[in-house]
Amino acid sequence: MKQSLIIDCDPGVDDATGLLTAFASHDLDLLAVTTVGGNVSAEKTARNARILRQIAGREDVPVFAGAERPLRREPAGAGEFHGAEGLGDLAPFEPAAPTAEGTAAEAIVRLVKERPAGSVALIVMGPMTNLALAMRAEPRLADHLGPVVVMGGARAEGGNITASAEFNIWADPDAAAEVFASGCRMIVLGLDATHQVRSTETRIRMIEAVDTASGRTAAGMLRFSQRTEREIVGWDAGPLHDPCTVACLLKPQLFELAPCRIDVETESDLTRGHTAVEFRVEAATARHFWATRADADGVFALIAERLGAGQ
Ligand code: RIB
Ligand code: CA
Repeated sequence: MKQSLIIDCDPGVDDATGLLTAFASHDLDLLAVTTVGGNVSAEKTARNARILRQIAGREDVPVFAGAERPLRREPAGAGEFHGAEGLGDLAPFEPAAPTAEGTAAEAIVRLVKERPAGSVALIVMGPMTNLALAMRAEPRLADHLGPVVVMGGARAEGGNITASAEFNIWADPDAAAEVFASGCRMIVLGLDATHQVRSTETRIRMIEAVDTASGRTAAGMLRFSQRTEREIVGWDAGPLHDPCTVACLLKPQLFELAPCRIDVETESDLTRGHTAVEFRVEAATARHFWATRADADGVFALIAERLGAGQ
């Protein structure tokens, strides 16, 4: 039985590798890709998702454009890590297939509600604005959703946009706070996990060895990130964030998850977007699961295998 899935993202070079891996994974029933402003503008993230879809040969998957700005905050960006157009060194083009009619939030509500409760998983690789808007439009959505697998949050590793916050949560902390409070079951790949999944030279070469358009595109994104991480952060091998969500859904045994309760700081400018991860909860009733360990070699091997099965 294929896992039904919606991916919400802000491509973004790491979103791109995650999307390409999902497009190539034929054991997923990818119902839609929804996009949000984040790394670059909403207009560019929607175009970039369509570009990646065309490269992967998956025009069967509709792309719905979503929120252009956070619920309350000013739009932020991360172009320095993704390139001005959002896809690193890949020169953008106008894809043949357009975006689908309707907003991302509308599509999430419709696609989840028209299927059995719990059967549609949602991966969120960017700010949670679209999911928060969908939950506002349909208050029962949290009860109908399957697992929500999120890249976001900072705890032991500290933040990557401020001392205590990770970019996706920081960019729209109000949306994240509403989603974490909704009661939906959430698997959270924060920096504690994604910082264990480093794009080392050996691992990048593993992806470069994949002789498909998707493999070559993902490898180009990894090389771009390698350069920006060295130049901006001084890291020789940067973390691979968003693809960890797809890997976790496809092969959960690659990660160790701890039951917890996560709340988001929205009042303080200093700690805006901090994820307070409380492990002192009853495991049997926990709704949030924080990834504490990741098998980096396993993640890269899975990505390489899937990209090789794609176009
Ligand atoms: O902090 C990492 C996250 O922020 C990733 O989703 C990356 O794409 C950026 O959006
Ligand atoms: Ca992202």
